[in-house]
Amino acid sequence: METDRRSSIARLLSSCFFLAFLVHSSNSKAEVHHHDFIIQETPVKRLCKSHNIITVNGQFPGPTIVVRDGDTLIVTVVNRVQYNVTVHWHGIRQIRTAWSDGPEFVTQCPVKPGGTFTYRFTIKDQEGTLWWHAHSSWLRATVYGALIIHPKEENSFPFLQPKREYPILLGEWWDQNPIDVIHEAIRTGSSPTISDAFTINGQPGDLYNCSSKEINTFPVNPGETVLLRVINAALNTELFVSIAGHPMVVVAADASYIKPFSTSVIMLAPGQTTDVLITANQPATRYYIAARAYSSAESLPFDNTTATAILDYDCNCLPEPNQPPPALPILPAFNDTLTVASFSAAFRSPTFVKLPGPVDEHLFFTVGLGLFDCLPGQICGGPNQTRLTSSINNYSFVLPSSLSILQAHQLGVPGIFTPDFPAKPPVEFDYTGKNIGRELWQPEPATKVYKLKFGSVVELVLQGTNIVAAENHPIHLHGYNFYILAEGYGNFDPVKDREKFNLFDPPLRNTVGVPVKGWAVIRFEADNPGVWLLHCHLDVHITWGLAMAFVVEDGLGELEALEPPPVDLPLC
Ligand code: C2O
Repeated sequence: METDRRSSIARLLSSCFFLAFLVHSSNSKAEVHHHDFIIQETPVKRLCKSHNIITVNGQFPGPTIVVRDGDTLIVTVVNRVQYNVTVHWHGIRQIRTAWSDGPEFVTQCPVKPGGTFTYRFTIKDQEGTLWWHAHSSWLRATVYGALIIHPKEENSFPFLQPKREYPILLGEWWDQNPIDVIHEAIRTGSSPTISDAFTINGQPGDLYNCSSKEINTFPVNPGETVLLRVINAALNTELFVSIAGHPMVVVAADASYIKPFSTSVIMLAPGQTTDVLITANQPATRYYIAARAYSSAESLPFDNTTATAILDYDCNCLPEPNQPPPALPILPAFNDTLTVASFSAAFRSPTFVKLPGPVDEHLFFTVGLGLFDCLPGQICGGPNQTRLTSSINNYSFVLPSSLSILQAHQLGVPGIFTPDFPAKPPVEFDYTGKNIGRELWQPEPATKVYKLKFGSVVELVLQGTNIVAAENHPIHLHGYNFYILAEGYGNFDPVKDREKFNLFDPPLRNTVGVPVKGWAVIRFEADNPGVWLLHCHLDVHITWGLAMAFVVEDGLGELEALEPPPVDLPLC
């Protein structure tokens, strides 16, 4: 009797709960968006020449996807080109859906020529500017696009809603097939040829030959405030961006809001996004938006060209040919690390952050370049007859080829990876010093992962090295956002530098630029099961092995385990 009554109360309660749930979900009206991504060859003309490039649906940049927080995306990739392809949803947490994350041989085998695969995932508590890109070889040179997440209908931006917004995708362009560029670099062991141009929404702008008619313009009405969603999709170059006469108010980065601040220049590393507001309060005419390299490595060659677009006031101005040329903004010098440091120090979360803690895993990873000695039969185009490489904790990451790490992990297939990635470098040395012994320059190729228990809190020191050439490395973690507790120069000091940690309002991001000859400390809670790549977002470095993967185990709760694999998950 008693049990009967209790269970009917339980039923009643649960139906109330269900009703409440229904009311709640009808409120937020989550939608399901279907897209087809046809990967195809598309003829385009850039820099006076005709090219066939790889695109999605013939568009370059690819289609902009606009969704709301809570929506589900179902994207079918159809591969009609001669290369393997995968698509990564950069910054999407993929909670319990690591299968749809996209890095080839990490969470899936690539989609082969003629093959298809459908990515399915739901956006959970994320809003802002993200993007998608190919995650196979150097295909992302042209296969990328914006992924814009608006707040749920009942929510709004934490700032006045601008009437107009524009995605601004920065890209990097080669006058040849980018896949050939990286294949040649791999063959010879040398640095890949540097790019020929940067692009803004696919166009280099009129400072390059043959590009004046195709320059992108962004119309504005006098007096209005516009939201610019800037995305650095360049392959290998960090970029400064500035707009003549218009300071920018930075309001978000990597789809997390920050405490707004005003600046005349922003810097984005590949992978990063930055949302800025600008107000059209200048004399009504045309102004250049310009992007140029931040090249932090001493004496490494870089592309020092400037991409432009035009901020174009709606006005009764003279017809365009009679107008004076637009003013160019003043951009920092290519090696202006001070500007980068003060820009990045301005990032704060909007309010006090409840940081995950206490820390369960204290990790220390060195990130940098290296050299392989020349083996018989190899071409060794690196410095002094070597082959260029890179590593984390002296392991140069090798992608598997017969199965993805996630599939091997789930199916228990041995021989694909080993779980012994070290928590710290094998030897301690003066990481950023001048005279690092040559024996420390040669990493070991391996496919090692670091295992994390579900829910463990990780604090990770990313320490740049001065091996071969020190530079700012944009380190991206898949499946997570992390708090950046501190950044600094030289070798991380576990006592002194800990005092500099921002434990109050650190910014939340998915990609951190580890300062040249310096370090950054990040913290996150491993609350998302799966295999998650951590890597430098300069594609040449990921090619060379500047990567590792975390395997986050399933938790015990029902909603703490990875969903079953999609039935159409490709095999290798
Ligand atoms: Cu945006 Cu692994 O990449």
